Amino acid sequence: TRDSAMTPPDAPGDRTLDRRARLHSTCHPLILAHLSGNVGVLHVLESEENLDWVLRSGLNPPYLVILDSPLFTRSIMMKLKNGSSRVAGVAVVAPSTNPPDGVSPHTNCPNENTGVYTEKYDPALAHCNVTVWNPLGSGLSYEEFDFPIFSLKDDNDTKVIRQCYMDHNRAVNGSAPQHPLCAMQLLSHMSAVTDTATCMRRSDLSAFSLSLDTVCDPLADFNVWASTRPLNNTAKGHKEGESVVVAAARLDSRSFFFDVAPGAESSVSGFVALLAAAHALRSVTQEAPPPRNILYAFFQGETFDYIGSSRMVYDMEKKHFVVDLDNIHSLLEIGQVGLRVNSSLWLHSDPVSRKNSSVDGEVKKLLESLRAGAAGLNVSLAEPSFSQPLPPSSFQRFLRARPIPGVVIQDHQSSFTNRFYESMYDNAGYLDISYPPDLTPEQQLQFVTDTATALTEVATVVARSLYAQAGGDQARLSSINADPQMVTQMLYGFLVRSNNSWFQQLVPSNLMSFLADRPTNLYVGVLNQHSELTMLVQHLLANLTGTTVNITQENCNYQREDEQDKMFFYVWVQGAAPPNATEREGFCTRSTVRLTSALSPAFDLQEYTSKDYSTWTESRWKSISGRIFLVAGHELEMLTLGVGLGVLITSLLLTYAMSAKADILFSSGREPVNATY
Ligand SMILES: *[C@@H]1O[C@H](CO)[C@@H](O)[C@H](O)[C@H]1NC(C)=O
Ligand SMILES: *[C@@H]1O[C@H](CO)[C@@H](O)[C@H](O)[C@H]1NC(C)=O
Ligand SMILES: *[C@@H]1O[C@H](CO)[C@@H](O)[C@H](O)[C@H]1NC(C)=O
Ligand SMILES: *[C@@H]1O[C@H](CO)[C@@H](O)[C@H](O)[C@H]1NC(C)=O
Ligand SMILES: *[C@@H]1O[C@H](CO)[C@@H](O)[C@H](O)[C@H]1NC(C)=O
Ligand SMILES: *[C@@H]1O[C@H](CO)[C@@H](O)[C@H](O)[C@H]1NC(C)=O
Ligand SMILES: *[C@@H]1O[C@H](CO)[C@@H](O)[C@H](O)[C@H]1NC(C)=O
Ligand SMILES: *[C@@H]1O[C@H](CO)[C@@H](O)[C@H](O)[C@H]1NC(C)=O
Repeated sequence: TRDSAMTPPDAPGDRTLDRRARLHSTCHPLILAHLSGNVGVLHVLESEENLDWVLRSGLNPPYLVILDSPLFTRSIMMKLKNGSSRVAGVAVVAPSTNPPDGVSPHTNCPNENTGVYTEKYDPALAHCNVTVWNPLGSGLSYEEFDFPIFSLKDDNDTKVIRQCYMDHNRAVNGSAPQHPLCAMQLLSHMSAVTDTATCMRRSDLSAFSLSLDTVCDPLADFNVWASTRPLNNTAKGHKEGESVVVAAARLDSRSFFFDVAPGAESSVSGFVALLAAAHALRSVTQEAPPPRNILYAFFQGETFDYIGSSRMVYDMEKKHFVVDLDNIHSLLEIGQVGLRVNSSLWLHSDPVSRKNSSVDGEVKKLLESLRAGAAGLNVSLAEPSFSQPLPPSSFQRFLRARPIPGVVIQDHQSSFTNRFYESMYDNAGYLDISYPPDLTPEQQLQFVTDTATALTEVATVVARSLYAQAGGDQARLSSINADPQMVTQMLYGFLVRSNNSWFQQLVPSNLMSFLADRPTNLYVGVLNQHSELTMLVQHLLANLTGTTVNITQENCNYQREDEQDKMFFYVWVQGAAPPNATEREGFCTRSTVRLTSALSPAFDLQEYTSKDYSTWTESRWKSISGRIFLVAGHELEMLTLGVGLGVLITSLLLTYAMSAKADILFSSGREPVNATY
């Protein structure tokens, strides 16, 4: 018998994995990949009719189905799900260009049950009754599949896989293909079981046994915030005399596949506009400080039932945050603003809280500030009809606590303009970010795209409005301008390549490994980790709102420790190398930037079936890989299985030993959870 491995195992990191094993107490999408990997005979699906071969007529199940992305639809995936006994796995070939029609694997009513619009708040507005925000949403990301689903780049390896199928497995003229058949194995072990309540209970118990059996971790990360006037971080809770205008944006995004969550329109457009606005406000708030403070808040984990904003509100209620809800004057949130039609921005507000005349009055003042901010700019502001509720937004979590006056800025009047919400196609190309040919990466970084120019306008409106809303001198508004150069560099850094010369200057040398030659992955982290996105936004915000202080590195690090719980965040960043030199010249940046926990309160309260707070956890998973090979017949399959079991047992022993060790090693080296920066 001849069993040839046709391709070497894929290079690690080449393949994107569907890390969709995110658990939830009510719905639990989860992959139960077999421990020894999922092996199946390759079948390249050519059309939906062709499914019959996989689900019924094919003689050699289980099949490992290769799908071109146009066939990665809800209809086909649900048929595969229902016939999952004959399906070993699915690999989706990702196209290099976006499809012409909209695609969204997200639900059509995002965060339906954890926003403010519950039956209790207003039954007429609950469950997207008035506006279905994401009409293209298929909900595929929230289905549970019994087999692993991978995404493959459309590259040479994928060609080899297709060729192997063509040569060996394709049924010609209806006759059954002959052995040997081309088979594929996907290795992607997920440890978790059932749902959050079950796996957290298991993890809790094992906390005493060095968490050898930890099978899932809460989704968690850090919110990033800063204020125009420094706030004493030791004194938590209410601050007498402090009146704060909150300027908020969300950070994270997702897609069906873990590694490709670019979130260009859904997140990047909003938080880049807010970062640019904060930069535009730096000098004016120092020269002519407005009477109110402005607090910039960037929320993590919003995609998964508002983890970050619900945590900040919870901390404010429990007096664990630097200010409390009484200190909040009003709130302005920047949502999806990258796809404006006719330069319009839509100002969304909450019809329920506005029934109260004093809240309504404050919202009207905020709308006035926005009009003042947009005066003389090529941006037209409009309000949706009064009866429409807020779109999904962090502000909803503040409204759940109390009727705070606030406005959410979006580029859509009713349902999203975004046709690729929370999908892998919500990328730089979708925002029309492109560069003339032959530019070096350095030139691309500097090149001001039309998208950047348009977003700069939004940032200017936001900056001026915030200054007006904070009670600043109206005569200064026209001098506040966002910088298109900063906006274009941020868009490049988040959507094209985070490992660029600008980002390199802004981060400390020990965080260089977070930078990569690809777009930033916007997936939220898990407990005890912060994601590359949080790190980048933290240091960008420090650079854009802070000042450099002329002190030595040693002194800077000392200040960093010393100021941990006081007014400022000090960080020694790499800087650039001067001309003709190879050594970078670092410098010290002082800012008011802080990180605070974005762990859902449900985990502190141990309410794993909470209806109020996010309960998403993520399965532990091992590195993934795949290989294809030929199987000669039934006998050989049995042989392969035997070998597979042998390998499994040794690898179990190995991983058991390794994870025991890893835990000891890592738990001491990890940064403490509650550290603020
Ligand atoms: C893919 O294959 C072609 C032709 O065999 C080759 O020219 C090209 O360099 C390969 N690409 C990669 C990324 O290996
Ligand atoms: C398949 O059938 C067509 C016509 O029925 C015939 O021309 C062709 O040679 C057949 N192909 C093979 C591989 O038998
Ligand atoms: C910050 O607050 C703490 C506790 O209330 C107080 O002891 C400290 O003096 C304050 N620091 C400054 C700089 O105001
Ligand atoms: C309106 O809201 C304010 C502040 O939240 C509250 O004090 C007042 O009682 C409310 N008025 C009515 C009529 O509900
Ligand atoms: C980032 O780019 C630098 C060159 O500018 C390169 O030396 C480094 O290896 C890159 N880092 C990563 C993680 O790709
Ligand atoms: C921000 O970074 C730039 C380098 O790109 C540097 O020149 C500037 O001084 C930095 N500003 C602060 C406040 O750190
Ligand atoms: C920084 O401080 C050093 C010594 O304290 C001084 O020589 C240098 O000129 C200062 N640099 C700037 C830019 O002020
Ligand atoms: C850098 O080197 C070039 C050629 O080696 C020289 O002409 C130039 O003056 C140098 N620049 C500086 C700032 O030293």
